[in-house]
Amino acid sequence: MIFEEAAKLDKADQLASYQNQFNKPENVIYLDGNSLGMMPKDIPQLTNEVVTEQWGMELIGGWNNHWLDLNERLEHKLAKLIHANKAEVFIGDSTSINLYKLAKALIQTNQFSNNLVSDNLNFPSDRYILRGLTDFSPELNYHEIEFNTSDQADIKLIESYLKKHRGVYCFSLSTYLSAYLYPVNELNKLALENGSIIIWDLSHAIGAIEIDVEESSMLAAVGCTYKHLNGGPGSPGFLYIDEELSNSVITPIQGWFGHKDTFGFNDKYQKGPGSMQFKVGTPNILSLAASEAGIDITLDASMLAIREKSLKIAKFIYKFVEDELGQHGVKVIGPANEVQRGGHITLHHPESWRICKVLQINSAPKIITDFRPESFLRVAITPLYTSFKEIAVFLDSLKKVLESRSYQNIDGTRPEVT
Ligand SMILES: Cc1ncc(COP(=O)(O)O)c(C=O)c1O
Repeated sequence: MIFEEAAKLDKADQLASYQNQFNKPENVIYLDGNSLGMMPKDIPQLTNEVVTEQWGMELIGGWNNHWLDLNERLEHKLAKLIHANKAEVFIGDSTSINLYKLAKALIQTNQFSNNLVSDNLNFPSDRYILRGLTDFSPELNYHEIEFNTSDQADIKLIESYLKKHRGVYCFSLSTYLSAYLYPVNELNKLALENGSIIIWDLSHAIGAIEIDVEESSMLAAVGCTYKHLNGGPGSPGFLYIDEELSNSVITPIQGWFGHKDTFGFNDKYQKGPGSMQFKVGTPNILSLAASEAGIDITLDASMLAIREKSLKIAKFIYKFVEDELGQHGVKVIGPANEVQRGGHITLHHPESWRICKVLQINSAPKIITDFRPESFLRVAITPLYTSFKEIAVFLDSLKKVLESRSYQNIDGTRPEVT
């Protein structure tokens, strides 16, 4: 039954041809959710050209001939994706480093009082960064909003914080555990009315849902390109700051690439315009170059079409879990309505790790999902490279594993990356 339904959905899938643009290993269904996107097929040729031709043959000339323009070209593309202008986006460093720079720059303006605020749904690194900032600046306070559940936010509670503590807030637009989506427009408005600002972590959102910084009044954000943008392991992070706001902030890490005249070798630092000041040092050209292919594919496919298919996949999974897997103790966490979730769906089961492992080891094809402690199985929804048939094979296999309890024969040791 689900295979018939999947066949119908695949036949009507307008993004189906994009699967050919990715390197899909045979006998693997890749639903890692989503720590690392798949590799676009162009990557080996593209990176080979950068290494062999540009570095190998052109040597230092590579900077003038190719690499100095790379940041700007990618910033332009990323800006298009989030409806920003290119002066508002910096691509480079990691999400964590960009969050440090942005949070410290914003708090130093004294426009937002001395509070740094996050919540317990946010990715741990973001919370470490904000808390860590207070270690070196005793005048700063860190508050962490504690929700009772790990799968969705209590907006009333956030509202009460925003009314009580003016500050620099940071939330993940789509949370890493349940993919819960915050009501971004409403919260940005509330923050503005109460003299605060929210830095949005877009890591799990970019490439998965439509982001419009203009329409949502978003003023500041960070994120990565290795998840739904398929930029590769260690591909660059990015930072977005509203252009007007960028005039009133100063980056805490003042390096030569952020200087308005990088190659002027002046004695004194003078910040570059817009997001440029957040560039610090020499860009990582190899990873930067490799991240372009995934961004291009996403722009070409359009976020509208990607999200449309994503919602269909989410509905397909949700219905099957409700109808067939609930009786085996599996449930979807987070909001029931798929429009309130981003680019993955998370299942709860006490044996999630061993289930994840058995799907990988004992299935043919091998099915790669991921696990988050203590009992969550994350399944990515990646419309660019996943077919409905693959989702059906995963669901059918999961049902068989649950019925047979074959996970009980698997040892529960875990590697570092799960
Ligand atoms: C939501 C979120 N924020 C931040 C990070 C940390 O990113 P980075 O390692 O690029 O600093 C991650 C990593 O997976 C993440 O998922």
